[in-house]
Amino acid sequence: MRLLWVFLPLLLWGGEDFISDYEYGEMLYANPRGVSCSQCHGKIGEGKTIVAYKDENGKQLLKGSDIRKDSLSTMIKAVNSYHKIMPRYYLTDEEIKAIYDYLKIKNQTYLLKSEEKNN
Ligand code: HEC
Repeated sequence: MRLLWVFLPLLLWGGEDFISDYEYGEMLYANPRGVSCSQCHGKIGEGKTIVAYKDENGKQLLKGSDIRKDSLSTMIKAVNSYHKIMPRYYLTDEEIKAIYDYLKIKNQTYLLKSEEKNN
């Protein structure tokens, strides 16, 4: 029992190191500073309709873009700048890289396939 008290803090702190870059990216994509990328860009970056509404020109769709093929530099630029719809995030380059890596892993098959099509 005494041993537990010695190791418990180690287990708790040490635990952080066990979360992989992938899990970190997954967590950030889902919940970066409160507003989830997935709300607008879909579960794995495939893009999605944010809202549908009607105006004088008829039915309009407001869409979050497909970001699966975006480069890391595009992503860093997009996340760090002001947009009409997308919020400006204050994420470090490492955090954006983790999101980028997560999306690349999640979309491995899709990316391979579209590469094949282009060759
Ligand atoms: C409220 C909706 C919303 C959220 C949340 C959001 N985005 Fe966006 N994002 C957009 C829209 C819409 C655009 C198109 C540009 C514009 O008008 O804002 C965009 C543009 C981009 C682009 C530019 C390149 C492209 O292919 O269109 C990237 C990369 C991107 N977003 C990544 C992210 C990441 C990563 C997150 C989370 C950290 C995020 N976005 C959160 C709505 C959103």
